[in-house]
Amino acid sequence: MNVCVFGASGYLGSTVYQLLKNEPSLDVSGTYLTDPGAFTDLHKLDVNDPESFSGFYKTMQPDVVVWSVMSGTYEDDLINEGLLHLLDHLRPETKLIYLSTDFVFSDGNGPYNEEDYVSKWPDEHTLSTYANAKIKAERMIADQVTNYAILRAGPIYGENHLGQQDERTKQLKETLANEQITAYRPDLIRTFVHVEDLAAAVVAFVSNGLTGIYHTGAKRQASFYTFMRKMTEMLGYQPERIEKAPEDDQPDKEMPKNTALSTEKITAETDLHFRPLP
Ligand SMILES: NC(=O)c1ccc[n+]([C@@H]2O[C@H](COP(=O)([O-])OP(=O)(O)OC[C@H]3O[C@@H](n4cnc5c(N)ncnc54)[C@H](OP(=O)(O)O)[C@@H]3O)[C@@H](O)[C@H]2O)c1
Repeated sequence: MNVCVFGASGYLGSTVYQLLKNEPSLDVSGTYLTDPGAFTDLHKLDVNDPESFSGFYKTMQPDVVVWSVMSGTYEDDLINEGLLHLLDHLRPETKLIYLSTDFVFSDGNGPYNEEDYVSKWPDEHTLSTYANAKIKAERMIADQVTNYAILRAGPIYGENHLGQQDERTKQLKETLANEQITAYRPDLIRTFVHVEDLAAAVVAFVSNGLTGIYHTGAKRQASFYTFMRKMTEMLGYQPERIEKAPEDDQPDKEMPKNTALSTEKITAETDLHFRPLP
């Protein structure tokens, strides 16, 4: 089976790429945009460039595509251009595994299950471009593709095979090393997922025949405050170094409160395991 990982140089994508490369039965290719990271065999590709995309895709003709691309403030270009190119090329039998986010639930009244309605973010919110592009992508995929799995995740954390950490933990480490005290919101509730567990889920969906939307992550939701205290302890510091941030704390003032994901469906239908918080 021929599998292509778009965004194989990223935090999650590189973990997925590495795991897939360990499977002898798979023929795996991957792409990067600016920096291939630890890999020497990735293909440089801007998915937004129609000619390069078409040339690459026609050469690879994958049986399964993993979309682990992210561009934050330019996420709408990725969807209106890159994802559109992919959907134009996708054969009906090709499976698309699309990485999505808990930010599709802007109401913040979680925990949410897979059937719950998604809702757009107000245009003026700093994260609206990213979140609304993900909502649009999910809709495009559900309308145009039959053989797809949308895997939604909350904040991804932990060290991957290549020794890379998530940005949040990197910042925390710096703060702790500088003897600073820092604060996180106890009212922002999320389902955190370890990068290795999410990557293992992607690999399972490459060959498990399941389609549709699946929520991923630990069974128990947690606030950023609780999560960061646990991470602080894990890093060998006193959890008291983490304080509670007030609800009007910038820049998170307008964040949806609870975007936790109920993960009963994926745990019932697969044998995947999502580790509890440390
Ligand atoms: N991180 C999280 O907490 C989180 C939470 C929920 C969902 N997700 C989803 O999980 C997926 C992976 O996230 P991540 O944290 O691993 O992201 P990441 O580390 O920022 O990686 C993004 C990847 O996209 C590539 N890329 C960006 N623009 C591109 C373009 N125009 N053409 C081709 N490649 C392009 C990057 O290539 P270069 O690095 O080479 O430039 C990189 O490989 C994304 O779909 C994201 O929405 C992430």
